[in-house]
Amino acid sequence: MSEMLIRGGKKLRGEVQVSGSKNAVLPILAASLLTNERILIKRVPDLEDVRTMLEILSSLNIETTFENGQIEIKAHSTCKNSVPYHLIRKMRASFNILGPLSVIHNEAGVPLPGGCSIGPRPVDLHLMGLNKLGFENRIEHGVVFTQRKEKPRSVTVDLPFPSVGATEQILSAAVKLTGTTTVINNAAKEPEIGQLIDFLTQMGARIRGKDTSTLMIEGVEELHGIEFEVIPDRMEAGTYMLAGLITNSAITVNGYISEHNQALTQELLKINAPIQINDDRVTTKERQETLKGTYIRADIYPYFPTDMQPQMTTLLTLSEGRSIVNDRVFPERNSHAEELRRLGAHAYARNQNIIIKGQKELQGAPVFATDLRCAAALILAGLAAKGETVVQEVDHIFRGYDRIVEKLRGLNADVALR
Ligand code: EPZ
Repeated sequence: MSEMLIRGGKKLRGEVQVSGSKNAVLPILAASLLTNERILIKRVPDLEDVRTMLEILSSLNIETTFENGQIEIKAHSTCKNSVPYHLIRKMRASFNILGPLSVIHNEAGVPLPGGCSIGPRPVDLHLMGLNKLGFENRIEHGVVFTQRKEKPRSVTVDLPFPSVGATEQILSAAVKLTGTTTVINNAAKEPEIGQLIDFLTQMGARIRGKDTSTLMIEGVEELHGIEFEVIPDRMEAGTYMLAGLITNSAITVNGYISEHNQALTQELLKINAPIQINDDRVTTKERQETLKGTYIRADIYPYFPTDMQPQMTTLLTLSEGRSIVNDRVFPERNSHAEELRRLGAHAYARNQNIIIKGQKELQGAPVFATDLRCAAALILAGLAAKGETVVQEVDHIFRGYDRIVEKLRGLNADVALR
């Protein structure tokens, strides 16, 4: 694992271009199995998680090409019907391959994904949904096997929690259950779900209720090949915006879709963060006054996104007064608080809250990243801290931030990998 050396306390300047959305492209890659025709996906970020998904498709004997930010896929029904554990372990979102595989083959097998540092990551809602669709599933030696036991029928799936992954899984399995109507109640409605719905609809799927909690899917016989462009990554965009704010710099982030980032924008305006949104970009300005403390509730969309919670926690350590951060999606997502304290921050995890008392400055120190967004939070802290910060096990960041060293250097940051 490499580490990132950051010489912080510098002003940033210039512009940064946001890449395509990791959490949009991953379920789209899984759903590309649903046609034998050519699929071309554009604005694909070059990330470890994307390359893991391509490894999984390759393990199924599905060839793909990935050049110049574009992925071409041509699946076929003679692909394999099971995936090796080591690939699922690398990236739990690959579990979303189960639904499409179960549609292509009467029996499919995908290993259970593990948990991770942000908390238990169960898949019970995925399995409940597939079961309701008529894909009976059992777990043997850590592998989930599905079997199509009966003729697909019209069903209603009531999700007790609007799980993003379970919504994507059920959606991707229901679209080709010919002659059926599937209703998903309490579906997730994150922008990445909307992207998957757009992708499937362009392929010929019949889906109603986009951006609402109730989706209605009429199964069709065939889906056809398309060319599709992925939206910019709202978490990457938000992270760079916070880089500008935490270093009190004037930078511009190109690819900030404000309708996807309303909760983040609102919370930043509430703490007097000097941001200016024009079309699809956001500009931060140098400020004369410190940011105010606040209460952040991270929750399902359209609340403040959990994937921006660690980065916002970091910004608040340099605000004025007290703040509380409560993550209702991943209550254990607080490993960054411990590490921020090493940089002089007053941030403490207490009973599923992170309690923050704003400081004037942070001091550089070695810190340890436990996962993707923790790494992002610690890099932001290092950019602001006086002196040198070394983010150890920084490789997590490459799962979700395309060319981050190049982009940070393009903003005048003093960063290096070693
Ligand atoms: C997706 O994960 C994202 N990952 C996560 O982003 C994001 O944090 C999360 O949605 C919430 O928005 C991708 O899209 C690849 P969930 P997912 O199913 O699908 C419980 C990042 O940093 N749950 O909505 O796993 C679960 O325990 C990553 O980019 C069940 O109980 O999220 C959790 O508390 C991290 N049973 C909550 O739902 C299930 O079957 C949220 O999970 C499934 C989930």
